[in-house]
Amino acid sequence: MTNILHIKSSILGDAGQSNQISQKFVDQYLITHGGSELTVRDLSENPIPHLTGEAIGGYALAPEDRTEAQAEAAALSDTLINELRTADIIVMGLPMYNFGVSSSMKAWIDYVARAGETFTYTENGPVGLLKGKKAYIFAARGGKYFGTATDTQTGFIETILKFFGIVDYEIVYAEGLNMGDEPKADALAAANVKVAELAAA
Ligand SMILES: Cc1cc2nc3c(=O)[nH]c(=O)nc-3n(C[C@H](O)[C@H](O)[C@H](O)COP(=O)(O)O)c2cc1C
Repeated sequence: MTNILHIKSSILGDAGQSNQISQKFVDQYLITHGGSELTVRDLSENPIPHLTGEAIGGYALAPEDRTEAQAEAAALSDTLINELRTADIIVMGLPMYNFGVSSSMKAWIDYVARAGETFTYTENGPVGLLKGKKAYIFAARGGKYFGTATDTQTGFIETILKFFGIVDYEIVYAEGLNMGDEPKADALAAANVKVAELAAA
């Protein structure tokens, strides 16, 4: 059985383009890959709080020594890491907000990036601990930045995936979504073609 984790990070929920495109991929993938199990982590429906120093300080403590806030943060981090660890396929709806990922996606990353859990430090630098996974990233942008230095959204997410050891990934871009009706329709049509290709593979 294949476990799919769908992480939605648009602030617009189901109206978000990145959520809609990634949802189309998931729907088609489930049809073409029978027997798959789906877990959804919707970051606008269930917002993740900012990580705090107190929360991080609690990770290393025995459960009985944690404050209530530390226990809650550790439980949330454990849950999110477990979802990631058990996933074979990771699907992300990834909007560009102010040249980066959404603050909800950043908060998710802050809770799952934990030494000894998703990566470890070695003499040769950090090594990712999440092996053998495949990620599909559906990036939505109002403007067009593919291949430019201002594409600080997907570059960042690629760095994070590799840091966790996830080296097999596909990125689908829906760009120019706020540049008028025609560019938007063209971008969504092109993204839908990629969605169908990837879901059928
Ligand atoms: C708060 C905010 C910031 C945005 N910043 C950018 C940006 O820096 N560059 C860009 O091309 N589009 C930007 N946009 C437009 C979004 O990338 C575009 O609306 C895209 O569809 C967002 O994905 P979503 O529909 O899944 O939320 C921004 C939109 C919002 C709401």
